[in-house]
Amino acid sequence: MSADVSTPAKAIARPGGLVRLAKKVIRKPGYAVKALGRTLASRQFPAPEGRDFIAERIGVVSGVFTQVSGQTRGKGFGHGAILAPHAELLWSLVRDRKPARVVETGVCNGLSSAVILAAMDRNGFGELISVDLPEFTDPALNTEAFWEGKGGAVVPAGREVGWLVPAELRGRWTLQLGRSSVLLPAALAGGCDIFIHDSEHSYENQMFEFRLGWDALRPGGVLVATDINWSNAFDDFCRQVRPRRQFVDHSCCLMFKR
Ligand SMILES: C[S@@+](CC[C@H](N)C(=O)[O-])C[C@H]1O[C@@H](n2cnc3c(N)ncnc32)[C@H](O)[C@@H]1O
Repeated sequence: MSADVSTPAKAIARPGGLVRLAKKVIRKPGYAVKALGRTLASRQFPAPEGRDFIAERIGVVSGVFTQVSGQTRGKGFGHGAILAPHAELLWSLVRDRKPARVVETGVCNGLSSAVILAAMDRNGFGELISVDLPEFTDPALNTEAFWEGKGGAVVPAGREVGWLVPAELRGRWTLQLGRSSVLLPAALAGGCDIFIHDSEHSYENQMFEFRLGWDALRPGGVLVATDINWSNAFDDFCRQVRPRRQFVDHSCCLMFKR
């Protein structure tokens, strides 16, 4: 299994990650310059209030995955959860904006969903609609084909999609299982205040989700685009829409709707 170096933080955290990152920079110097510019223009969204909850949930999923080994489509199994700074970003957006409805794609074991729902619980307000086409460690449970670029994010044996979401936080949650290209139009039909893309990072799917999510956002809403470094969709979308943007790091950007 090769180390995931899709963000500098991951590169530092994984064995051999910095060497892989250096090779990537040599292979694509143009992108490295762009990534540096985005990193320098980025802003963190710390959420001290949510830090204990986030650390505890990350500890739980990391602990479970110490016992999960194997591969799917030649990629090592992983929990696929968002990084702690991105989890704090979601917490802080929900607490500051008090959204009536958040729609996200990409659940897997459920860290982002758990964080959004915990912050909504503090607000005493809001609902979350999540869309996910899950991949399980047990191949018998995988009924649909995945994008060839997909990494190894999986739900382990004996667990359900979004199992990290505590039972007491599920009252505000609707989880829909299937491909986002099929389910998202209906999920977004009622509009939303925050849209988060964290599912399939192919060019076609990112473009599809950015367009649909953006159109569904109410005025003053925000689109959270993750893994923007996986394809050119983010750049092409921004050229079309020219949104006000705030980079969180080189792989994640907020787009604000006026
Ligand atoms: C990176 S994981 C999401 C992690 C999650 N946000 C968290 O914080 O734990 C991406 C998820 O998107 C799912 N996925 C892949 N292709 C998809 C598609 N076309 N539509 C919907 N979900 C998809 C994957 O199976 C996986 O469960």
